[in-house]
Amino acid sequence: MTASFPIARPRRLRRTAALRELVAETRLTVNDFVAPLFVREGIDAPQPIVSLPGVMQHTVDSLLIEVRELAALGVKAVILFGVPAVKDATGSGAFDPDGIVQVALRALRAEFGDRIVLMADLCVDEYTDHGHCGILDEHGDVDNDQTLQIYAKVALAQAEAGAHVVAPSGMMDGQVAAIRTALDSSGFNDVSILAYSAKYASGLYGPFRDAVDVQIVGGGDRKGYQQDWRSAREALVEVDADIAQGADMVMVKPALSYLDIIVAVRQHTSLPVAAYHVSGEYAMIKAASANGWIDHDTVALEQLTAIKRAGADVILTYFTRWFAERSAAELRAEAGVS
Ligand code: PBG
Repeated sequence: MTASFPIARPRRLRRTAALRELVAETRLTVNDFVAPLFVREGIDAPQPIVSLPGVMQHTVDSLLIEVRELAALGVKAVILFGVPAVKDATGSGAFDPDGIVQVALRALRAEFGDRIVLMADLCVDEYTDHGHCGILDEHGDVDNDQTLQIYAKVALAQAEAGAHVVAPSGMMDGQVAAIRTALDSSGFNDVSILAYSAKYASGLYGPFRDAVDVQIVGGGDRKGYQQDWRSAREALVEVDADIAQGADMVMVKPALSYLDIIVAVRQHTSLPVAAYHVSGEYAMIKAASANGWIDHDTVALEQLTAIKRAGADVILTYFTRWFAERSAAELRAEAGVS
């Protein structure tokens, strides 16, 4: 039966790959990505992370090799996480000038200068013996304002070591202001802040905690400072607070289960919006595809595209290297080089 009026036929534009390519609204490029990298003190060879297949705890030397390879693939940004040899109550390895991330930043900055954006996660959970993102008061609760003083020291140590961007992830109130003030008063006015603004107390950080050897004391959790996943508007309260305090970019984390938050934040601010496709989101694709239950490449591309489609300008993901290798291979194929 033919309709008596021209019905919409969106399938016309889906007929061929070339047509689909022409009208696609969202395109991922290697410039969208930031590679999270782990560097561990006191090891002499890189260590695989079982729950994050393909991701390593690096030595400083193997980190340099990794970043060289990423740079050759066109990756423009990395974010560093440190695993110290010794943890203590205040997480002093995070602000020690000879702490592992500071050592790694100096080496990276010396080799890459401004060619690669060097970001440093700014938190203390990897460095504290109790595993919390701040220091504890006499009742064992995270003390917000004491922690701010520690974060200010971490920011200075990271800036001195060469970070272009510091990324506070501890969800303490006032952290962006404390860090901005510390940076500005020491002449680091040009160091940017990527604020983990809307960070939820997610179950999807499990593999990351293996990667940085973190266990929260007494089987505790971070619900006292990270956001409750039942609430969405609160994310905008956090974003407003961080912007008012001087954030240069804001982040939503995790990404996939929080696409509604990414959309809301995108509509709310003109600043760049980042999204962290976290360890559990990566591990789920790796595990299901290893079992043959889903197709690795298809699902990885589908999910990363969804994050960009929702409005993220910058995506932190453990798939960065995979994506960059894939793009490089596609470019070679298009150019007819094998
Ligand atoms: C805190 C921090 C965490 C992640 C990034 N920064 C862990 C947490 O809040 O428990 C998680 C990243 C991931 O799961 O990939 N320093």
